[in-house]
Amino acid sequence: MTSLPNFPLWEKHSKIQAVSTPSRVTLHLGHLPSKKDIKAPWPRTPSRVDPNNPPWPAYRGYHEYSFAHATMGVRLPTILGKAIDDASRTLNEQSAEDKIVDLVECLERMDALMADLSGNAKLRPIVDDGEGDVALWNKEIAKYFQGKDFMNAPWLFAEAYKYRRLHECFSVSKYWHDYDVFYRQKCDTFSRSTDAVFELSMRFAEPFKQSENMSDKEKAESERLMFLELTQVCLWGNSTDLSLLINMTEEQIKSLQSTGGDHLAATEKNILGNHLNQLWETVKVLREKTGGRIDFVLDNAGFELYCDFVYADFLIQTGLAKQIRFHGKRYPWFVSDVTRKDWDWLLNTMVYGHLFPKASEVERESLRRLGARWKQYEKDGRWQYEQHPFWCTGYTFWDLHSEAPDLFLHLSRADLVYFKGDLNHRKLTYDCAAPASVPFDIAIGPMASAAGAPKICSLRTIKSDVVVGLGDNGDAIAERLDKEEPGWKISGKYAVVLLSEGRPGEKVRFA
Ligand code: F6P
Ligand code: MG
Repeated sequence: MTSLPNFPLWEKHSKIQAVSTPSRVTLHLGHLPSKKDIKAPWPRTPSRVDPNNPPWPAYRGYHEYSFAHATMGVRLPTILGKAIDDASRTLNEQSAEDKIVDLVECLERMDALMADLSGNAKLRPIVDDGEGDVALWNKEIAKYFQGKDFMNAPWLFAEAYKYRRLHECFSVSKYWHDYDVFYRQKCDTFSRSTDAVFELSMRFAEPFKQSENMSDKEKAESERLMFLELTQVCLWGNSTDLSLLINMTEEQIKSLQSTGGDHLAATEKNILGNHLNQLWETVKVLREKTGGRIDFVLDNAGFELYCDFVYADFLIQTGLAKQIRFHGKRYPWFVSDVTRKDWDWLLNTMVYGHLFPKASEVERESLRRLGARWKQYEKDGRWQYEQHPFWCTGYTFWDLHSEAPDLFLHLSRADLVYFKGDLNHRKLTYDCAAPASVPFDIAIGPMASAAGAPKICSLRTIKSDVVVGLGDNGDAIAERLDKEEPGWKISGKYAVVLLSEGRPGEKVRFA
C-alpha cells in the first residue's frame, strides 16, 4: 500500500480523493429519449391566444420593469383622486337637495373604487347600468379573469376596467349618469395650446389652393409634401409635448407651408417605424375612386382632435377622401379621449367661444372660419361622428371581428382606417412584449389577416412599453435605446407611422 506523506488529516483526506476520483466523468445516455427541437413559446399559436394570454407575454401591474407598474400603482390612483376632487367641486356648486344627495352617492362609489384599486381587490362584474357594453365586459371577466386582481390581470384589461368602474359610479345615478369628471381638464388643454392653435388656424382658414403659376408636376409635389407634413401634424398632436408647433421658427413655418425640407426631415428622424411614403401612395389612389372613405378611430379631445380635423379637412379639400367617419367613445375614457360632448364643444367653441381673450381679431376670425367649415362638413354628412360600444371595452382589436362583427364589417367598408394614439396602438398589438422587429401586419393579427380587414394606419407617439414594426434591425434599435435613453418608450419623443396591407375586397365571413 502506498503510504501518504505526513500531511494533516484533512489534507490527507483530500489527497486520497484526488488520487482515487476520475478527473472527468462521461455518462453514456443511450437509454434516455433523444433530444427535442424545443421552440421558444412565443408567439403563441393563434388558437392559444386569449385576453389573459396574448401572443407574446402580457404586461401586468406587478411587472416592476414595465410602465404597467407605475400606472397601476401610482398613476391610476392619482387620476382617480383628481376625479374625486372634480366631482367634489361640482358638488359644492349645487343647490338642489336631490341632485346633491345623488352626487354624494356617486362620490361614495368613487371612494369604494379607490379602496379596491389601492387594496388590489379582485375584479368583480360590472353592474348592469343599461350600457351597450355590459354583456361584453362581464363575458370577458367570467371567461378569462375570474379571481384576477388589478395587479395580476394584464395591464391593458385592468386599466380599461378601472375606467369602466369609474363610469359605473355615475351611470347608475339618477341625475349624473352623463357626468364627465375629466371634462374641465380636456377643455383646459385646448385653451392652453393658444400658440399652436393659431399657428394652424391662420394657415388653414382659407380653403386650400395651389398657386396658378405651378406646373402640374410642381402641384403634385407640393401636395405630396403637404400631405406628409400634415400627417406629421396629426401624428405629433398625440404627443404630450406640443413644442413641435409652438417653438417653430420662421424658417420652419415656411417649410410647413409646402416646401418640405429640413423641418420634415428633422421630426421624421424620431419616427422609428416609418411607412409615410407607402401611406401617400395608398391615399393617392383613393382620389381616383368615386367615394373614397377614410375612418379615424380617435384618441384625445382638445388639441389632438383639432389636429385631426386640420388633417381631415385637407383630405376632403384635396379630394383624397370623399367622406370621413370619426369613431369616438360613448363615455369618459382614459382621461382625455374624445366623447360626443368634446366633439361638439370643440366645434362650437371655435365658432362662438371666448376662449382666447388675448388673441387678435384676425386670429379669432381664422378659428371661426375653420370651425364653420368643419360644422358644415358635419351637416352635409362628409364628416360623421360615431360611437360604437366596443371602443370602451377591455377587448383588444384582435377580438374586434369576433366580439363586434357589425363594427368590423362597418370598418371593412372603409378604404383606410387611421388609429390614433398610444392606447389604440396597444389594443391593435395586444399590448404584449413582442420584439420590436415583428412586422406590423403580424403584430395586429386578425386586423391584418381576417377576410375583409381594411388597410390600417397607426399614428402613434410612443408612450408605453409595446413597440413593433421597427424593421429587420428593430431589435438592435430598441436595445440601443434601452441602454442610451432609458424611458424612451414613455417620453412621447418617438413615434411610429405603420401601415398594414389589409385584405379589402375579400368576403367577410363570420362563424
Ligand atoms: O396609462 C397609460 C396609457 O394608457 C398609455 O397608453 C398612454 O401613456 C396613455 O395612457 C394614453 O395615451 P393616448 O392618449 O395616446 O392613448
Ligand atoms: Mg387617449
